[in-house]
Amino acid sequence: MSLETAILRKISPSAGDIERVELCAQKALEEITNDDLVKEHNAEVMLVGSVAKGTFLKNPDIDLFILFPTSTDRSQLQKVGLQIGKKHLTTYEERYAEHPYTHGVRDGYEMDIVPCYKLESTEDLKCAVDRTPFHTEYIKVNMDYEMKNQVRLLKQFTKGIGVYGAESKTEGMSGYLIELLIIRYGDFKRVMKAASEWKLGQVVFPKNKKKFERDALIVHDPVDSNRNVASAVSIQSFSKFIFAAKKYLENPSELFFFPNSRDEYSLEYIKKFVSKRDTEMVVVELDRPRLIDDNLYPQIRKTLEGIISTLQKESVSIIDSAYEVKEKKVKFAIEVESLELPLIKSHYGPPVWSDNASSFVDKWKSNEFEPYLEGSVWKVMVYRDHTDAMSYLAKNLKMSALGKDFRDLKGMKITGNEEAICTENISILSKMIDKRMSWEVV
Ligand code: UTP
Ligand code: MN
Ligand code: MN
Repeated sequence: MSLETAILRKISPSAGDIERVELCAQKALEEITNDDLVKEHNAEVMLVGSVAKGTFLKNPDIDLFILFPTSTDRSQLQKVGLQIGKKHLTTYEERYAEHPYTHGVRDGYEMDIVPCYKLESTEDLKCAVDRTPFHTEYIKVNMDYEMKNQVRLLKQFTKGIGVYGAESKTEGMSGYLIELLIIRYGDFKRVMKAASEWKLGQVVFPKNKKKFERDALIVHDPVDSNRNVASAVSIQSFSKFIFAAKKYLENPSELFFFPNSRDEYSLEYIKKFVSKRDTEMVVVELDRPRLIDDNLYPQIRKTLEGIISTLQKESVSIIDSAYEVKEKKVKFAIEVESLELPLIKSHYGPPVWSDNASSFVDKWKSNEFEPYLEGSVWKVMVYRDHTDAMSYLAKNLKMSALGKDFRDLKGMKITGNEEAICTENISILSKMIDKRMSWEVV
């Protein structure tokens, strides 16, 4: 039995699984279709997502869309959409994508109930989710039984290597993108072969003139040529997928689909590791703002960049960095060449022909180190306020370009040097140090 057949056996829902999930979806569909609010608004209920398309793994979520006539007021659609969602779920919460929808549980299955507009074509979209019914139709028409299995393999593969999902937490591939890749290349193995030769800006569906020049991967949406289905795929996820495909072709293994979990390193190991490199660590800890993941993760990345550029402004050399999201805290770790700074730093003034040149020279002429011309520009060596990067950072973090909800610096704690290499920081330091790919963990 080939590896792929073995994986398929493991991930495919059984006939019983399929029957149960379809029954649950069907019952919900009927119940909601008969809901008075749905009738009153002349709405239609549609099963979408992987259950409708037959591309789901075991224990899928069920995606139900309520399609309102375009004459429905937007705020009305949102309000009624939520009302209906709550009625038909056992437990639920409101979630916000581009607009609010209900996520909950029913008969043991996770379920999304999403309101959208019912359109004739994708030319006059009112919101992003309006495309979903068209996607569902497209896949239903263009995919046969065997291709659905190939989708399952590719879904599990991307899950295994950590690039499944278009949310900003992952910045990876959506289920629909994976379906289109299988349609384009034929099967899982062929996607691996193609991806192993992808280059940055790869165009997979060259259907349209629109360029999407900033995207790593370009897959024109067959139901909407103005849309790149792969727009959420970051360069990082794109690159990881290419490398994983190459390695998989060289040496196929179950570990690509089901990676081992990694152990944290011991404090001893981390200490040795750092001293071997003769580098230093800084760990910044801030309170985790109460945001949904799609808003939180972009802010975390921005905050890490802000911390790094603040350090760089003071000429601290950055070696590596990582972040970690805990229940109440977000931690940022930065490995630097040295936390110790010299007593002085360069301070640049205007060029010699500038009107401000003489006031610069006047201001600094009694400075301990005299101002001088470097090329055409005035320059002077001044004493630093802080000679260690830690206290500099503590002082200057509030002026950095941080994520909006991190700017108040609530719960700020900065540790450096030996102090940073402590039990509480083991998980983030392990995460930063451990450079193995998911399939390399044995
Ligand atoms: P899913 O994320 O559930 O993906 O969204 P999927 O294709 O069903 O794959 P799996 O098997 O569950 O992982 C289903 C559809 O609903 C739309 C998505 O665009 C997708 O086409 N959707 C879902 C939204 O547009 N917005 C949402 O908030 C949720
Ligand atoms: Mn789904
Ligand atoms: Mn869903």
